[in-house]
Amino acid sequence: MKQRTFTMLKPDAVKRRLTGEILARFEKRGLKIVAAKTLMISDDLAKTHYGEHSDKPFFGDLISYITSGPVFAMVLEGDDVISMVRKMVGATNPKEAAVGTIRGDYAIDTGRNIVHASDSEESAEREINLFFDESEFCDYELPDEDIIY
Ligand code: PPS
Repeated sequence: MKQRTFTMLKPDAVKRRLTGEILARFEKRGLKIVAAKTLMISDDLAKTHYGEHSDKPFFGDLISYITSGPVFAMVLEGDDVISMVRKMVGATNPKEAAVGTIRGDYAIDTGRNIVHASDSEESAEREINLFFDESEFCDYELPDEDIIY
């Protein structure tokens, strides 16, 4: 089932110049980048995006972290892409993330865990609409789609 998911490389990933390396993982897996941009997240956008965690003790740290520098936000498309990207990202706490996952390979601390990915169809739709306008999407065919799917 073809799906779209929202994925965001957090400020530590961008500042550590890991954007290309992480993007390459998604591309090599066969996923299609249909929208992407670098941006500074405003305080309001951060609080809306992470609104469901507003009563958690880490909320303040999370908002400071995600607004501390540029993020690289993207929408990825592919077969069952939501669960696939979550598996590629790994556990929230990088110390528990399997080697071979993005967090397991690049991060140590939950407060600097490199990447966000939508956890359900509902959150993917909400997050995509929060970060991207319809005009920012590219509709195109990959030349090797018949090999991958
Ligand atoms: S919970 O309590 O299980 O619902 O929360 P969880 O899914 O583990 O985390 C929700 C998001 O908060 C991030 N997080 C943190 N950020 C900074 N500091 C600390 N201590 C911290 N703990 C959790 C976590 O990475 C989740 O963000 P995303 O962007 O989805 O990874």
